[in-house]
Amino acid sequence: MSRIAYVNGRYVPMRNAVVHVEDRGYQFGDGVYEVCEVRGGELIDRRRHLARLKRSLELRIRMPMTEAALGVVLREVIARNRIGYGTVYMQITRGVARRDHAFPTPEVRPSLVVTARSLQRTRNETLAARGIAVVSVPDNRWGRVDIKSIGLLPNVLARQTAIEKGAREAWLIAKDGTVTEGASSNAWIVTSAGNVVTHPADRAILRGITRMVLFETLKARGLAVEERPFTLEEARNAREAFLTSASQTVMPVVSIDGRPVGDGKPGPVATALRREFHRFAERG
Ligand code: PDD
Repeated sequence: MSRIAYVNGRYVPMRNAVVHVEDRGYQFGDGVYEVCEVRGGELIDRRRHLARLKRSLELRIRMPMTEAALGVVLREVIARNRIGYGTVYMQITRGVARRDHAFPTPEVRPSLVVTARSLQRTRNETLAARGIAVVSVPDNRWGRVDIKSIGLLPNVLARQTAIEKGAREAWLIAKDGTVTEGASSNAWIVTSAGNVVTHPADRAILRGITRMVLFETLKARGLAVEERPFTLEEARNAREAFLTSASQTVMPVVSIDGRPVGDGKPGPVATALRREFHRFAERG
């Protein structure tokens, strides 16, 4: 079965799913995106993801359709691709115009693309049972990474470094030695005192939806979260480490730069949070 994408008003087979060469997303990375988890064929946390999308559009890119209409398109792409377990991706750019750095005239319509893909659930569960390795990489991104911009070159380079070093994710290190977040995930540790720590949601990280839902999961378990920057050194000496993202929910981290975290196995806090996460996430 051919995959189907939504491109500017039409559902088309992937091979015909194309945008103009002068789309500002292609020319300048002038666009924003969202990724939602799909589980049991249903969107997870659509409401929160669309709220964040709206916030990213503060870049003065117009929402191409109502939120309700976008919800219909997302569900249609999931259905047409028969996604049970996977992700749905949506991207909005400032549209197609002759290449010029300044914004185009107001009548230029934003471009909207939606795609979906299946993920192998057993593969993810095997990974989570083993835990993953991360490596540290300097955080050299721009100052507004709270906006989910499609301009991801530093993230791409960081992830490639991780892969080449045999790890699955890169943890980005600010100039002061603190861990901001992962190349496409938020970073967490459990300190030797048992406190769960993650970077505050300021302009230095993306305010992860999984991160937000996990706050509720932690609260229900009676665990307090410390929202503060933590250093790479502190992470290396942590009892546990893990990351969060829509596609991986809670993923235990068992080594940093080749050195084991705790006993080098997924920790009990991360494991419990992964198990309980979907009780707190919204369906549909
Ligand atoms: N990435 N930080 C960054 C830099 C991210 O790209 C992401 C998500 C997150 C976690 O956000 P959330 O919990 O809302 O997925 C944090 C998506 C999955 C991606 O780029 O594929």
